Amino acid sequence: MERDREHWSSQVGFILAAAGSAIGLGNLWKFPYITWHNNGGAFVLVYLVCIVVVGLPIMMAEILIGRKTGRSPVGAMRAAVGRNWAWVGGLGCISGFVILGYYAVVAGWTIRYFFKCLSWSFGGYEPGTSSGAAFGEFVSTGWMQILLAAIFMGFTMSIIYAGVSRGIERISRQLMPILFGILVLLLFSALTMEGAADALRFIFVPRIGELPMRGVLEALGHAFFTLSLGMGTMMVYGSYLRRGQSIVTSSIAVVALDTLIAITATVIMFSVIFSKAGMQEQIGKSTAGMLFITLPELFYTVVPIGGLLAPLFYVLVGFAALTSTISLMEVPVSYFIDEKGWTRKKATSFCGAVCFALSILCGLSLGADSALSGIEIFAGKRGVFATLDHLASNWMLPVGGFFITLAAGWAMTSNATREQLMDETTPKWFRYGAWRFFIRYVSPVAVATIIVAVISGMDFS
Ligand code: TRP
Repeated sequence: MERDREHWSSQVGFILAAAGSAIGLGNLWKFPYITWHNNGGAFVLVYLVCIVVVGLPIMMAEILIGRKTGRSPVGAMRAAVGRNWAWVGGLGCISGFVILGYYAVVAGWTIRYFFKCLSWSFGGYEPGTSSGAAFGEFVSTGWMQILLAAIFMGFTMSIIYAGVSRGIERISRQLMPILFGILVLLLFSALTMEGAADALRFIFVPRIGELPMRGVLEALGHAFFTLSLGMGTMMVYGSYLRRGQSIVTSSIAVVALDTLIAITATVIMFSVIFSKAGMQEQIGKSTAGMLFITLPELFYTVVPIGGLLAPLFYVLVGFAALTSTISLMEVPVSYFIDEKGWTRKKATSFCGAVCFALSILCGLSLGADSALSGIEIFAGKRGVFATLDHLASNWMLPVGGFFITLAAGWAMTSNATREQLMDETTPKWFRYGAWRFFIRYVSPVAVATIIVAVISGMDFS
């Protein structure tokens, strides 16, 4: 079965690729924003609990199903559990298309902001240039949205096309250290700012009474998104893993890196925001606000050496997004390669074209085209962009995740899972029984809670 399947060349390569998938716009764009809206401290604590109790066990489950079967999600679910589970993998492939459709649009914005920052750094910044109105005008310029998404999709496809170790692994090895480096630089600069103490207090001191109930569910939903769980991404990446490369250690490393980056990014952003009086009241009502409206202005008005850090910051966001879009696209691509016998080239071209078509619809739904911007399938979610985001985060990922926990915890035998998790690479302190308990009881109940909450009208997008 292992015939000509591609593999990661080393465990570090796998960890960096998987961390690259996990670390993305979810960490830099969504997490700071929901932390803000849920009043900080207590929310962060609950989020950490969700990551460890729900995220980590499911991460291990996905990777082990992938490594055991050496197949992409459709074939993996079929081989690991049975014929009538293949649809879970199929749902994952569709989720990949849906998420990429809007993710690529936001990813494309980083390119524009990078160039904008260069021109501000060299040409001088005039206060007010990055206002909400300017942002609104930018997103409703149709050709610009399409062009940026096309460029980003082009980068993504060229890497997928180069293959697993020569494409995905290589780019992750190059980009992740740069990303960590830029983040450390930003962190040092942020910690010298006068808002830093307030920021740290806001993030790390739990004030239980201030946590809204919906924040608990939001933390759980975000744990899925940020760790790239629920659609087989980690299954595909696990399918390129060799025996002898540890599932337990790698999962822990990926989860730890993802969490560290999300928190560091939040500390940086809040230190900046808290350093300017009155900014806290103004944080945009949209998720986009903080990253693309509030921050550019602050970089040029309050941050020391902001002219240098601002362009670097958007490079960081762009790189983080790129290693994530790659992982999203690899799911359907690997399906066509494994199940339909297509070449990587053909699969990449086809999936890229489908994703790009969706991105066009999303890109034009932010004001450029009134019909696309006006579609309202889910109450309060207007436009194709918001609709796809809602569909994926609230329905597809939780449902996929739920069935993955059932597959790993109930449908597979304990021998089958034990044999993957417990080998000579597993740390001594790791208890198989504990994992089994979490995957059978804790994770499914938690995920079912999200689904019930969604059905009763709550929103996680
Ligand atoms: N985890 C990435 C982020 O935080 C996004 C992502 C990549 C993703 N692959 C995924 C989300 C698969 C859900 C499922 O930005």
